[in-house]
Amino acid sequence: MINRQSHQQCIEPECLARYALDERIYACSRCGGLLDIETKPTAEVESLKKLWRERRSSFEPRDLSGVWRFRELLPFTDDAPVVSLGEGNTPLYDAPGSARYCKLNSLKLKHQGANPTGSFKDAGMTTAVTQARLLGTRLVGCASTGNTAASLAAYAARADMLCAIIVPEGQVSHAKLAQALDYGAVVLEIEGNFDDAMRVIRELAEQGNIYLVNSINPFRIEGQKTVMIELAEQLGWEMPDHLVVPGGNLGNSSAFGKGLQELLQLGLLDRLPQITVVQAEGAAPFADLFQKHRNELRDGEIPSEIKNVARPKTLASAIKIGAPVSWKKAWRTLSWTQGRVLTVNEQEIADAKAIIGRDGIGCEPASATTVAGIKKLVAAEIIREDQRVVAVLTGHLLKDSEYVINYHRGKLTVTTEAVEPQPITATFGNRPVSVKADAVQIREQFQRLLDLKVGGPT
Ligand code: F0G
Repeated sequence: MINRQSHQQCIEPECLARYALDERIYACSRCGGLLDIETKPTAEVESLKKLWRERRSSFEPRDLSGVWRFRELLPFTDDAPVVSLGEGNTPLYDAPGSARYCKLNSLKLKHQGANPTGSFKDAGMTTAVTQARLLGTRLVGCASTGNTAASLAAYAARADMLCAIIVPEGQVSHAKLAQALDYGAVVLEIEGNFDDAMRVIRELAEQGNIYLVNSINPFRIEGQKTVMIELAEQLGWEMPDHLVVPGGNLGNSSAFGKGLQELLQLGLLDRLPQITVVQAEGAAPFADLFQKHRNELRDGEIPSEIKNVARPKTLASAIKIGAPVSWKKAWRTLSWTQGRVLTVNEQEIADAKAIIGRDGIGCEPASATTVAGIKKLVAAEIIREDQRVVAVLTGHLLKDSEYVINYHRGKLTVTTEAVEPQPITATFGNRPVSVKADAVQIREQFQRLLDLKVGGPT
């Protein structure tokens, strides 16, 4: 059942220690480094594109999953007990309004919020929980800002496993918490932030009390890397010039880099997109690292340490993270793709989110950092108006409806310790209008709308 073609390997160049796939470890036991999974394709590379395309007309459960459809590049054997909810197969939308907002000719949005639990986490959870099942695990767990928790809770329920999640009390959106509760997870709310939750759960995992399914677990990364295969397929195996993704714990950017690098090495792609990671200004340790060490990117060296943010702050609660666990892998992504990191502020995130909504797409605040970031990159002439750009939206609009309603009602505020609460301007606000149940009055509203003759914000 365990794939002997593949192994786990420490990413530190001077270590590269190897471990079997069935060793339940989350870091190198020799040097503490992060682990990668090294795997070889289990079919002829030349046949893969055709095989994957043919599976799109199959009803085999694994073929219906946008992750397992690409199983030749995953570290599992054919008889693996797959735990799937039909994840992946997410749309790649044209977003003309968002493109205009960024001053681009066109912009595509890859919406990972269209996954079964409404976020990109499902692509990695299907592989991680399948691995948990292979290991005979009874209890799985994670620390989370909400989406990992919702996703793990769902997949654990499907696999009939016990699930415990640790979340920062009062800092997770109601929708995400509701999902975890409904899927039957034990929800442990701690005083502190995501980074505190992560520290505690790692300790428990290392003591063997629980199987850890955060993105430090390399089986998560394997599932998430398939998003790049799916995107390549959707684009006729030609990657865009730029791929833009939000950054929190940095698992997603790590996975995208690994997926792209593998596709390049196998000859399935000729060139890679430049990856831009976007962080919220108040939770941006990786952007800070990039500023300090950007000149070292070309030589492929990974900086020895990152300066964590002790008290990260942003209304985009999904990425309110000050000590990103996977920063070394994400740094590799930057050096493989000549990428970059930038920050956007709270107003920029909120406005970009409303613009994405006007394209009929919508997303959660963390995802909107991408469009906000692209707007800045075009203004700085780092992205040209005629270049091909894809932004990855990581979570569904309904993941954080409190934020959305507060924005449109003009009640969204940022609170910091130093200053009074700062209001976010509802630049593209859309307040509900209170009217009497009277046809004449309502018709007046219709007329007002028709008189405006606008096609939406530009
Ligand atoms: N976008 C959303 C919607 C997220 O939920 C997260 C992370 C990210 C972006 C950042 O991705 O961590 O791979 O860099 N959410 C985690 C969670 C931390 O617990 O749900 P990353």
